[in-house]
Amino acid sequence: MAAPSDPHRWRYDVFVSFRGEDIRKSFIDHLFNDFKQKGIYAFRDDNELPKGEEISPRLYKAIEESRYESKFIGNISKEIVKVISNGPLDVAENLVSVDDRVRELNLLRFVGSDKVHMIGICGFSGIGKTTLAKAIYNSMYTYFEGRCFCDDVQGVTKRQGLTQVQMQMFAKILKTETLQISSVSEGTKVIKQRMACKPILLVLDDVNDLEQLEALAGSPDWFSPGSLIIFTAKDKQLLRSHKVDEIYEMKILDYYNALELFSLNAFGKRHPTEYFEEFAFQIVRYLQGHPLALKVIGRSLYGKSMEVWKSELDRLQTYPNPNIQQKLRPSFDGLASDHKRMFLDIACAFIGENKDFAASVLASSNCSANAIIEVLVDNSLITVSATNMFLQMHELIQSMAREIVCEKVDMPGNWSRMWISSEFHDSLNENKVLSGT
Ligand SMILES: Nc1ncnc2c1ncn2[C@@H]1O[C@H](COP(=O)(O)OP(=O)(O)OP(=O)(O)O)[C@@H](O)[C@H]1O
Ligand SMILES: [Mg+2]
Repeated sequence: MAAPSDPHRWRYDVFVSFRGEDIRKSFIDHLFNDFKQKGIYAFRDDNELPKGEEISPRLYKAIEESRYESKFIGNISKEIVKVISNGPLDVAENLVSVDDRVRELNLLRFVGSDKVHMIGICGFSGIGKTTLAKAIYNSMYTYFEGRCFCDDVQGVTKRQGLTQVQMQMFAKILKTETLQISSVSEGTKVIKQRMACKPILLVLDDVNDLEQLEALAGSPDWFSPGSLIIFTAKDKQLLRSHKVDEIYEMKILDYYNALELFSLNAFGKRHPTEYFEEFAFQIVRYLQGHPLALKVIGRSLYGKSMEVWKSELDRLQTYPNPNIQQKLRPSFDGLASDHKRMFLDIACAFIGENKDFAASVLASSNCSANAIIEVLVDNSLITVSATNMFLQMHELIQSMAREIVCEKVDMPGNWSRMWISSEFHDSLNENKVLSGT
């Protein structure tokens, strides 16, 4: 055997203690091969001990002559933690139809490709983009040599800066936790120089700004062929302008899946309890397949009495649930101020109207009405029906708009827009109708 690294004290760097034929043939073989390649001297009893020799004293001597110090254990643990933390992500329980969506996207067709593929997933808050992206990651990560899921890029950037997201990419893909960067442009340079070393799966979740895209995944050329880059975003135009290959628009859950998700949260089972069935149907219809809302309202009713169910159903339509509103609000807050105004105008007065008619009326106060309607569509705040071009809005988004109008001033007569007919009449009676925004 060649001389160990410290000839005066150690014959071996490592003493490996193991038992059993099963690990001897698989794990231990791999481990020793790796030790050999890295020049680590390891004691292995089946090779090192001559047959028939007294085992105990010899083993005892080998242990004494091995380094197998706590810092090695620490390093091994660190490596194991690295491997584990690069494994599947934690996704929420009680997922409904997520696997179907993953299958529908069929992203496995990109594995082993000679191109880099960039895919976008878009939709408004709480519709399930992150959940779907995590499920995709979990179903695909084993096909890639390097992988990284950057959760909530927008939030991390706001709190800790874009360099934090870049360092996360280095740690996960290049395995270099120690690599320090002092600016975003320096980080981008490292990505350009080093990310192309192997095919990777990179998910950039909730991007909301071109600067993030340019700093983290500016061009397919930065990556090795066979890499798959997935973005999730609320704004479809952001993804379009980044020239992603495909954009998947999140759809709301269909009625039966929505009922299942609601029931799992409200009753702990896949179908509603018969006693509450009618209420469950009505609530699910009102929530229009929005996963977050189905989950939040379902949970809030778990184990509650019929009285509470009744009042929740009444309240839902007049006083939107604050947890849901808080989650939806970023979709509105991210808009420019003239876009916000037009969104509120449309929510108040043009839902169910023809898009061109709405645009022609709104053009009197804003000449970019048509362009702004497109922005609102790209942010999933309104949809335009393909058959008759009528403007549509998710019930919860409309509730949010109503809340925003109401919160400006708490007396209906002082609202910037008129909404609920009974309050409209009250205001008229008090002679307090305002005009304009
Ligand atoms: N198909 C589903 N089945 C069950 N629960 C779901 C499903 N999709 C989403 N959810 C749940 O709904 C909530 C919102 O989902 P998620 O965070 O993925 O939405 P998002 O589109 O990423 O929202 P945001 O734009 O605010 O980041 C989460 O609690 C998630 O667990
Ligand atoms: Mg998300």
